[in-house]
Amino acid sequence: MRVLTNVSLQELTTFRLGGVARFFCSVTSLEELRDALAYARTRGLPFFILGKGSNVLFSDDGFDGLVIRINIRGRHYEEDSKGDARVTAGAGELWDDLVAETVSQGLWGMENLSAIPGTVGAVPVQNVGAYGVEVRDLIDWVEVLDTKENTLHIFSVADCEFGYRESIFKRPEGQQYIVTRVAFRLSTYPIPKLSYRDLAAYFENTDTGRLTPKEVSDAVRTIRNRKLPDVTEVGTAGSFFKNPVVPEQVYKELTRWFEYLPAHPHGEGMYKLSAAYLLEQFGWKGRRGEHVGCWDTQPLCLVHYGDGSTSELIAFANTIIEDVKERTTIILEPEVRCIDVELRSV
Ligand code: EPU
Repeated sequence: MRVLTNVSLQELTTFRLGGVARFFCSVTSLEELRDALAYARTRGLPFFILGKGSNVLFSDDGFDGLVIRINIRGRHYEEDSKGDARVTAGAGELWDDLVAETVSQGLWGMENLSAIPGTVGAVPVQNVGAYGVEVRDLIDWVEVLDTKENTLHIFSVADCEFGYRESIFKRPEGQQYIVTRVAFRLSTYPIPKLSYRDLAAYFENTDTGRLTPKEVSDAVRTIRNRKLPDVTEVGTAGSFFKNPVVPEQVYKELTRWFEYLPAHPHGEGMYKLSAAYLLEQFGWKGRRGEHVGCWDTQPLCLVHYGDGSTSELIAFANTIIEDVKERTTIILEPEVRCIDVELRSV
């Protein structure tokens, strides 16, 4: 394990923003991860666990500690007699490589979560979701290293306390755990989930009884390409805000002004509203600051066009938060993990 100093966080994150990591290392095994933690501990440094940096935003002041990139690899398949398959992958595997491999083997489960950047270790942290599927629906267990006790544990789905883009790993009580491996349950029997509006429209004239997971995966890739920026071309971390969850009364009030506001029931008496729709109504779609802006085809996705700064992005995000709050009383919350960065209204 080699520790580097003053490594640019712009090189390590898909937003391509942030100052420098005072110390940085990449670990390829559990032993190296333990060494890295010992390095931080003996020097009294805070540490930050990074995958591919596709859902984080670091401050322009950088990170005054050790950034540890998890590069623990390994994929392992098991099939049982009932047609279920279990795939176990190291936290450093690329999520989309795993998706592509499973769908090309005819396994059902991950196809709706195609083309999402990032690593396997990151998916349980924010309970990644897209096109009507959340990763908690597929997870069997999550292996974690408890950094306080230096012990390995297997977390069940219940232990992970998943919510909408939420898990124990995002909350203060989960900060002592580092995801090292994840096991997923997949199926050899067809279980297409095509009810999400964009997917249903895509397959409108198709005999969906004969679909393969690869065909569904390709459809998701096409839909995403139409809407979302390519992270290799423009700085972004996907949706910057969560879709707000509000009481039914607030939703009903809003429909007086926005008749077509997309909304989904989200637990008792609550509705999850489309933030993208609201942002479009308020004129944010395609709006640009100097180096940052709202993406042309999906305003929930904030982008960095280059040569910008985290403070510029945050100022832009704060203007959106203020605008939405003034018009609707709703306070948008970040979906992206903001490290040492304060959003004004949250
Ligand atoms: N919409 C508009 N205007 C737009 C774009 C969308 O009005 O410019 C409306 C449409 O009615 C559309 C609805 O908003 O049907 C929902 O849009 P979309 O399908 O893009 O989904 P989203 O709710 O905005 C969420 C996730 C995305 C995920 C998509 C697809 C969050 C915060 N975002 O976005 O995840 O890809 O659903 O399932 O939940 C991410 O987390 O980084 C991410 C990209």
